[in-house]
Amino acid sequence: MLPSGDLPFSQACENNKGPIYDVLSSVFADRRQVLEVGSGTGQHATFFAARMPHLLWQPTELAQNRTVLRPRCAAYEGSNLLPEQTLDVCAKPWPVAIPDALFTANTLHIMPWTSVEAFFARLATGRPEDFTMAVYGPFNYGGQYTSQSNARFDQWLHEQHPHSAIRDFEAVDALAEQAGLALLADNALPANNRLLVWKAV
Ligand SMILES: C[S@@+](CC[C@H](N)C(=O)[O-])C[C@H]1O[C@@H](n2cnc3c(N)ncnc32)[C@H](O)[C@@H]1O
Repeated sequence: MLPSGDLPFSQACENNKGPIYDVLSSVFADRRQVLEVGSGTGQHATFFAARMPHLLWQPTELAQNRTVLRPRCAAYEGSNLLPEQTLDVCAKPWPVAIPDALFTANTLHIMPWTSVEAFFARLATGRPEDFTMAVYGPFNYGGQYTSQSNARFDQWLHEQHPHSAIRDFEAVDALAEQAGLALLADNALPANNRLLVWKAV
């Protein structure tokens, strides 16, 4: 176990976990288990699991990024964090079951659009009828950036990977609708990010 100062760390996660929790605490109040996609450093998983002990939290990552996720999960002292697992949303079938809730942060603008489509297609089948999903990150509306900083961020994303881009809220919501999910709330969070919440209908 690493001392906490040596654990993989994201300043952005540190900044956004409080505001995200403020919304999730009510959105996930009646949920039992959360599948997290693209858990990164595990800061969200461990922070939310510790504050919502009624939830079993399942962190996941791409196989090649599990070494980043593993140390913080291993250092978690509670009993409601499941062992981290490999999950690529493009996998067929998914190696983990979909429980009654799903959370993902800052992933849809990283993965290619075809992977975003595969993600929502997977949610159309084989999930509980009673299902809630919360997605955090930047989104465009009406084809427009919501801020200059998001425009600069999108340019930077494109320079890193041509397939990465801030997604259009309307296009993502259309995929959700095709998957049988209805938008419950679109929460504006600090730093021009959103926390979108969908529920199965
Ligand atoms: C910017 S990081 C966000 C990590 C963390 N959720 C956070 O908010 O700090 C994007 C994450 O998406 C994950 N990711 C990219 N493509 C993915 C895919 N096809 N399936 C699952 N996760 C993916 C990456 O491994 C990476 O951890």
